[in-house]
Amino acid sequence: MNERPESPPPAEAVSEMATEILGEPRFRGTPTDRDGRPRTMREVRSFVKRGGRATNAQLRAIEEGWATLGVPAAAVGPVRADGTPAASVLVDLGTLFGRTAPVTLEIGFGDGEQLATLAALHPERDYLGAEVHEPGVGHLLLRVEALGLTNVRVARHDAVELLRHQLAPGSLDEVLVYFPDPWHKKRHHKRRLIQPPLVSLLLERLRIGGVFRLATDWEPYAHHMLEVLSAEPRLRNRSADGTFIPRPAERPVTKFERRGHRLGHGTWDLAFERIA
Ligand SMILES: C[S@@+](CC[C@H](N)C(=O)[O-])C[C@H]1O[C@@H](n2cnc3c(N)ncnc32)[C@H](O)[C@@H]1O
Repeated sequence: MNERPESPPPAEAVSEMATEILGEPRFRGTPTDRDGRPRTMREVRSFVKRGGRATNAQLRAIEEGWATLGVPAAAVGPVRADGTPAASVLVDLGTLFGRTAPVTLEIGFGDGEQLATLAALHPERDYLGAEVHEPGVGHLLLRVEALGLTNVRVARHDAVELLRHQLAPGSLDEVLVYFPDPWHKKRHHKRRLIQPPLVSLLLERLRIGGVFRLATDWEPYAHHMLEVLSAEPRLRNRSADGTFIPRPAERPVTKFERRGHRLGHGTWDLAFERIA
């Protein structure tokens, strides 16, 4: 589609700039995870905590809403030999939402406008969001309050940890990854969320028939997503021509998408269904 320069625009990807300034995070001590397993590439995080403080109103919304709406990180993350989480740390989604309904997980919801809009449009569905940026969590909880939403719950820790340790196989009906950090530089590509190990983990948590929806404004990442997802035999591309889908009318324009438009970027949407 659009011909665009390969070099990242300066305003893009605060996370990447933080890595530039702070350097790559290094592991201290024994390079094993909390379960005593050797650290793998999944421990290369897909984010660097951004600066920016939550406002007083956001902090108040988190403090008051967390007990009802929050999903705390698992204190320990035992994993069975077959890689599935031990039942003790699994989040019971029925208990969490107080009912049984189809569940959508949004990974990296930013300020949560998209999640709140979808939750308001679909009161018959439940929405679980994961975001590590505290002001974004506060922003979403304020929206949840203002709109009186009862079908939203929030995790403010690494979505990879949430998926790996706390969500049961086949428990999700839909997963959304909209405008994930593109990690423009080649040496940072390992930080991209959309990679075969994450897709494989995510697929195990998605029920058969469930849908994985993505969007990005960074064309090379769009093609990378298409390549990784097309290579997964348990997924079927919902695009008629096996590439991208038209922009779903229901998907609100997010802050990051608007920024992409200002920078002259296009938008690429993808939708894949789990078939096996
Ligand atoms: C470029 S922003 C896009 C936000 C939003 N989806 C939008 O379109 O406006 C990517 C977001 O993903 C979050 N993120 C990245 N990796 C994450 C992870 N592993 N777990 C939770 N949040 C993550 C970042 O904190 C950041 O807010």
